[in-house]
Amino acid sequence: MNAHITGTGRFIPPDILTNQDLSRMVDTSDEWIASRTGIRTRHIARDMSACDMGEAAARAALDTAGLSPADIGLVVVSTTTPDRPLPSLACDLQLRLGLENAFCFDIGAACSGFIYALDIAALYLRTGGVTHALVVCAEKLSAITDYTDRRTCVLFGDGAGAVVLSAADKPGGLLASYLAARGDGGAALHCAPGGCIQMEGQEVYKFAVRAMPEAIEKTLAKAGRNVTELDFIIPHQANIRIIQSVMHRYGLPPDKVAITIDRYGNTSSASIPIALDELAREGRLRPGALLLMTGFGAGLTYGATLFEWSV
Ligand code: COA
Repeated sequence: MNAHITGTGRFIPPDILTNQDLSRMVDTSDEWIASRTGIRTRHIARDMSACDMGEAAARAALDTAGLSPADIGLVVVSTTTPDRPLPSLACDLQLRLGLENAFCFDIGAACSGFIYALDIAALYLRTGGVTHALVVCAEKLSAITDYTDRRTCVLFGDGAGAVVLSAADKPGGLLASYLAARGDGGAALHCAPGGCIQMEGQEVYKFAVRAMPEAIEKTLAKAGRNVTELDFIIPHQANIRIIQSVMHRYGLPPDKVAITIDRYGNTSSASIPIALDELAREGRLRPGALLLMTGFGAGLTYGATLFEWSV
């Protein structure tokens, strides 16, 4: 059995926070934010919870997969901002969506959460225990962002992305993945209970430009594939300069690299599935397309996964 992505969905909250808005809140400017990060706008979930956003993204993914809630056997949610400590956001989604046949849990891998969650779900599909799994990344980073700290508040946005993974006895789907963590770097990006995100920006930057190439190369090596064979790469959207460093390193042209950071900022683990859903709905993912997704984040965690698109 191979694990294939059979549906995608996203939800972006309607309220927009522009660089101009932020320049009225802290000592910053559109020019500084755009040139240092590539971000122009981010969306904020003012009256919505992570669960509300995750529900909308999950409904869209189920719809594109053509499945009913009862078909789902597993729900894995990645979130840094669950609505409450207990029960898990995955169980709340089960209730809201009527996923009566699923077992459900959340994982904590911060911005690498989609890469981690996909791999976990795929293991259950491959061993035959589950036929369809729902992976949901729902992030309300505005709830843990200090809007008086210019070093962090310009970076983050809210949103959700989801995919349905389905087991099928046909080639393609998830080809290889690589997950890693470096707890000794965890102090560079953290958040205390009830507090806001604290970050050593340059430390995280240096980590990111080493971690993504490592994950890309290890994953491709596992699959016996080469970077020149890739049709698309979806990097975690944290800073356009981090993405560009990966593009330059491998000579990747802009039309092969998904970029949403200008519009949505850093939506943590939701950034990759949001970009994936955009590519899929634009009809740019043809069957056989080779797609690499790679992320990094608090932990410090990082990883990559390689898919052959099959729907
Ligand atoms: N507006 C204006 N000035 C700002 C600012 C802002 N929003 N944020 C920081 N500055 C200032 C700093 O105070 C500093 O001023 P100083 O030299 O007078 O002390 C100056 O800009 C340079 O700060 P520095 O931190 O060196 O900037 P940078 O080029 O490293 O960019 C980040 C900062 C955060 C954009 C960048 O380090 C980054 O993107 N890091 C990775 C973060 C990340 O990916 N986090 C999420 C991981 S999932």
